[in-house]
This record gives sequence, structure tokens and C-alpha cells, in this order.
Amino acid sequence: MVGAEELVGVLRAIVGSDHVLVDADLRAGYEVDWTGRWRGRASAVVRPGSTAEVAEVVAACSAAGVAVLPQGGNTGLVGGGAPAGGEVVLSLRRLTRMGDVDPLSNQVTVGAGVVLADLQASLEPGGRELAIDLAARDSATIGGLVATNAGGLRVLRHGTMRAQVVGLEAVLADGTVVSRLAGLAKDATGYDLSSLLVGSEGTLGVVTAARLRLVPRRPARVTALLALASVADAVDVAATLRDRLDSLDVAELVVGPTLALVAQERHLSSPFAEPPAAALLVECGARTEAPVEALADAVLASGSLVLDAAVSDQPAARARLWQLREEITEALQAAGPPRKLDVSLPLDRLAAFADEVVAQVEAGHPGAACHLFGHVLDGNLHVNVLGVDDVTGEAVDELVLGLVAAAGGSIGAEHGIGRAKVRWLHLSRSPAELAAFRAIKAALDPAGTFSPGVLLPDPGPRASPS
Ligand code: MLT
Ligand code: ZN
Repeated sequence: MVGAEELVGVLRAIVGSDHVLVDADLRAGYEVDWTGRWRGRASAVVRPGSTAEVAEVVAACSAAGVAVLPQGGNTGLVGGGAPAGGEVVLSLRRLTRMGDVDPLSNQVTVGAGVVLADLQASLEPGGRELAIDLAARDSATIGGLVATNAGGLRVLRHGTMRAQVVGLEAVLADGTVVSRLAGLAKDATGYDLSSLLVGSEGTLGVVTAARLRLVPRRPARVTALLALASVADAVDVAATLRDRLDSLDVAELVVGPTLALVAQERHLSSPFAEPPAAALLVECGARTEAPVEALADAVLASGSLVLDAAVSDQPAARARLWQLREEITEALQAAGPPRKLDVSLPLDRLAAFADEVVAQVEAGHPGAACHLFGHVLDGNLHVNVLGVDDVTGEAVDELVLGLVAAAGGSIGAEHGIGRAKVRWLHLSRSPAELAAFRAIKAALDPAGTFSPGVLLPDPGPRASPS
């Protein structure tokens, strides 16, 4: 078995010296996540430039018994992309090849390192887009979106990243390459390895390229921010709009205190004279003419539930409304850092959960402020708690995730489990499911080379960093 020094030499021979980072200051940006909460020392950062190089790097690390942590844009919020200590961080950001769009199938093949915003910009002239959008679009990579089964702002219409993936190319733990990039809409020939890798958080293989389904762009857009008396009313209004509007793409919930926080921290102004208990940001899209009247009619159909509304189809005014939603994460980080919990609930229990989680967190932890926002029609709430330290934070996590489990929800909606929620996974997965998870891990990564400490509660057999 080669030692750590020797391995660095082998890695340099594979990817070139410039792409093996061992100096602390060069490694630094790859060793900490966006929140600053998750950090660790990598034994090296390796930046392969092709699938063949990824395969050779993985094979060399496996042979040396050194753990490998695949990393994309490093904008995940649960620590899945930050090293715990000693791993080789495998940055996929140089895999930026973008294939030509296939207009017949409406698909494209892209490298794992392609940034979401770059892909959308390249698709725009052809009138197509990937049906995934999220605030981290300028740094999130396709590989990371696949590995976490990302959701974001458009799930209500087109589903999560899983629904956009037609097939994947990936490197397995022994360096073998598996490829399913032909773009076949129908392919019932056994186990769907691509689907298994979606949401596997780098624990089963390294995604190197993806064949993606595209949808028509709908650039004529109208956006509205609606003021409501409660989260329950927001759920009702969002469901009414969804049922009446084929053009509805977005329904985002922000509770009153969180709307006030983002306005204050980011120096934005709320369009409402009276601060509402809850606000709903909705948006409809069409190919040529923004469906302003259709949205207005649907809002009227919600009766007296909508207390106030700001509506626009003009880019600058729409952008101002969006700031009140998209800048929440930065506002919370500036006021925190917060305890971040991304959960989903059955829709008929979301409003009761929202009331209860705020009441219980704030009563149980004096000084804590519980902020809620999220993708309401996906049942997805982002519970962010300010005013707690790391020790109290563990108790807050336990309280919030216990309430989620009691309400029949999921403790990880769209950010994944990462390192943050490993100890709570049993709240959402049965012993039988966890046993199946371990069997899959043992079959595809028997030495535990990939992403130790991420997702799976039982470490099982594992490569030890040398
Ligand atoms: C969002 O919806 O803005 C993201 O999931 C980010 C977050 O939860 O902070
Ligand atoms: Zn989100």
C-alpha cells in the first residue's frame, strides 16, 4: 500500500501538479462549507479534468486505503461536501464540458462541474432551460444538484433534480466507469443505477456527467407577493392558485418575522403597509405574454384570504419582490449563524407544525428566534433558529426533528443529510430501510472509500485516512 507522500506523487502524475493542492492556503477554500459550520483538514485537494482522470484518482486512493470526498460548488448546507479530516477532496469543478442540445429529445449532456447559471445561460438562446432553479444558482454545480437531489423554486411544476436526470456517468469505488448517457426515455433493463446515485450524497460513486431533460423557457413572467393572516391561509391560497393556474411555477412562503428580518438585514422595503403574519411569493410564466389577468383572477378566487398584494410583470419590480425571498439565507447568516433545518411535512399538517415549532422552540430556549420560509406546495419548510449556540443547537435539532417525525414528515427535504443529520436519520428511515442502505453501500463501496461520515449512521467498513 502506498503512503500519503507517495499517493500525492501518484495523484500529481494523473492530473498534473497544478491540480493537486497540498498547501494549507490553497486547500482552505475547499475545506469549509458556505455556512462556516462544517470544516476539516483535507490530506489533499485533487482537481481532475476528465472522467478518465477521476477514475484514475479514485482507483489510486482506493488502492492506498485513503478516503475520497467528492465536492461540487460547496454550497450544500449540511456538511456533505466538507471534509471531516484526512480525506482527499475530489473537486469536480473542472468537468465543465457542455454538449450540444439534442432538439429531438430535448436533452443535453453536461459535465458534473457545470454551474447551474452557466447551463441556463447557454440554453437561453434556444428557448430551453433546466427545470431547476435555486438561490445558489451561481455556484451550485450539476454534480452537486444530482448528488443531493436538489429541489429549489420550481419543484411544484417539474419535480426535483431526480425528475430531470435521464441518465448519468459515474465512477465507482474501484475506479470503474458506468455510463448511461444515451438519453433513452424508456429503458426497462434492470436496476436504475443513475437513479440510485441521485441523492446518494457522494457515498456510492462520483457523478462525472449527466444527461438532462429540458423544458421550454417561459420568459414572460408575472410575480406577486401576497399578504396573509396565517400560514394556514398561505397553504390554502397556494393550493387554490395551483388548481386554477397551469402557468404557476412558484409558491414560496415567508412568515412575518422572517420577512421583517430580511427587510432589516438587507435594507429592503416590504410593499405592505401592515406587517403580515405570512407572505406568499407566487410567480406564473408563459412563452410570450405574462399571465397577469389569469393570476389576478385566481387571487380574487381566494376571496378575502389575501389581505394585500404587490404584483408586477416588470423585471425591476419583480426583482425587488424576489429579493425579499432570495436574500433570506444571507440575512439569517448575517444575524446568526442560524441552526438550519430543512424539513418537509404532509401539506395538511404543515400549518399546525409551523405554529407548534415556533411556539416550542421559543418557549424551550429563551432568546431563540425561530424563522420559517420555504417551498410551500412541496410541504418544504426551512426552519432556521437564531440565538442558540452549538450546544443548545443540538437540543433545538432534536426538538424540531422530533416534531417533524411526529407529524409524519421528512427530516431532510432538499438539502440532504450530510454530516448534520446523520444521527437523526432513524427518525425518517425504518430499521429495514437502513439495513438496505447499508447493504447497497457495502455492495458498491465495500471499503467505505467515499464520503465517510456522510449520510449513513453506521460507518461500516471504512477507509482510514493515512
Ligand atoms: C432556499 O430555499 O433558499 C435554500 O434552500 C437555502 C436555505 O435553506 O437557506
Ligand atoms: Zn430551499
